[in-house]
Amino acid sequence: MGDQLPTIRGRPRSIRRRMPRIAACTVGLTGRTRQKPTKNKSLIPRTYYAVVSGETVKTPSGEMTHLMFQWEGDPSQKSLRVEALPRLSFSADFCTLCPLTPTIYDFERNCTYMKIGVPKETLSGETRVALIPSLLSALTKEKHEVLIERNAGAAASHSDDEYEKAGGKLVDANTLYAEAEIVLKVQPPTPEEAAQPREGSSYISFFAPLINRTIVETFLKRRITSYSMQYVPRITRAQSMDALSSMANIAGYKAVLMGSEQLDKIFPMMMTAAGTITPSIVLVLGAGVAGLQAIATAKRLGAKVEAFDPRPAVKDQVKSVGATFLEMEITENVETAGGYAKEQSEEFLRREQEVIGARLPKVDVVISTAQIFGKRAPVLITTDMVKKMRSGSVIVDLAAEQGGNCELTEAGKTVTHNGVKIIGAVNLPATVPVHASQMYAKNVVNLLQHLFPKGSPIQDLNDDIVKGACITRNGEIVNDAVRNALQQGGKS
Ligand SMILES: NC(=O)c1ccc[n+]([C@@H]2O[C@H](COP(=O)([O-])OP(=O)(O)OC[C@H]3O[C@@H](n4cnc5c(N)ncnc54)[C@H](O)[C@@H]3O)[C@@H](O)[C@H]2O)c1
Repeated sequence: MGDQLPTIRGRPRSIRRRMPRIAACTVGLTGRTRQKPTKNKSLIPRTYYAVVSGETVKTPSGEMTHLMFQWEGDPSQKSLRVEALPRLSFSADFCTLCPLTPTIYDFERNCTYMKIGVPKETLSGETRVALIPSLLSALTKEKHEVLIERNAGAAASHSDDEYEKAGGKLVDANTLYAEAEIVLKVQPPTPEEAAQPREGSSYISFFAPLINRTIVETFLKRRITSYSMQYVPRITRAQSMDALSSMANIAGYKAVLMGSEQLDKIFPMMMTAAGTITPSIVLVLGAGVAGLQAIATAKRLGAKVEAFDPRPAVKDQVKSVGATFLEMEITENVETAGGYAKEQSEEFLRREQEVIGARLPKVDVVISTAQIFGKRAPVLITTDMVKKMRSGSVIVDLAAEQGGNCELTEAGKTVTHNGVKIIGAVNLPATVPVHASQMYAKNVVNLLQHLFPKGSPIQDLNDDIVKGACITRNGEIVNDAVRNALQQGGKS
């Protein structure tokens, strides 16, 4: 059979190839598998021969190529790692239609599957884990094998035992990176970690390519297919994969608790025999996902809540969760077509500071969440404005990592100025790792199932979610927005 086919012989990395230019193609390839001593100490032969055939079909979103595998050669091999395929450019058309993540074909189960690796987070203070035990079955049901680094879930209260019982295989970090076809993480890799995954494998994390350029370069060199949870498009179809929103919800809730704990007052009104206590006033700046959750939480705790956001559509949402909207005349268009806030003019910010400044002396807690995607956060509270606040009041700045909404904010620190505490809140989801991991893991599994429907290694590259979330593939930056921004900013 092999003689009739276009064949590729030799080790996968130094492959000589004949390129079938037809849509329906069949390719044989030979390569080597790892040596495994058998019981009688002899070695299983290392050469495999597989036949891969492709067939192009039309789908509503374009053409897709389905691959089929047939086994020929040494029957003692139970599975075949098809790692050479993504690096073979059969033909331009074939590759565009049929990007393959390294996959394993299991001859006994007659299915294709991937080894999915979940390493332990290494960033100091990160307690979340990218996959929780109760979600493992969603992946094992699709025949995938899940490798969990020992202690990966410990900080999120998930023991190794739980993962093992759920069908995961506990391994050390080196084994995980050496074997996994896909790595699931919360934080982006450190420069050292970026060099650890197998060449040609995939990586899903909260990866910010514009501020992690050395990692982009490592991914390009090592042909890692990287997906960023930050770049999953904010469209209705992708809501179940929107980790930015799930984490923002948690941050908004937690920011209010931090503010109430640091405040020298209580939030609710109390009418007691000792007199009446008036409710504290909370001002929420930026009423996106985190801001709306902060409003709802502060209301539930009994505070009087005011809010401001430059996007006109937000006014009704603010009122619907029970807050008063700070009025300001808005003459410029501050909203993008995608529903995000645009970067505002200096004049706009000056007028906004006036409006906010007029309220600050009366306010007890400010929760500031104002952000512009990919840019420094706008400065809404200057040092002079802080001076006018009541001593004992609190600012919780959720934009601290993006430069801060308050001029005095220091990310990860609490500074006190004229008796006002300014909390530079960082990574609040990590303060509630159980629920944060539960939500993040669900978002990641939903994305994974969308990228590889029913475990198939074949993706629809025309799909908006695949196009949006994928940053690098096959040694190229494939996300247009990221490529343009990196080109404009020059090489790091
Ligand atoms: N799947 C979906 O359909 C979906 C999912 C998530 C978000 N969204 C939309 O995107 C919006 C924003 O999302 P986000 O919360 O992640 O945004 P974000 O974290 O980027 O920004 C937070 C908020 O800051 C506000 N802001 C910007 N400049 C400001 C300024 N000068 N003063 C005060 N506030 C300012 C923004 O308008 C936004 O509401 C949501 O409210 C929603 O409309 C849609």
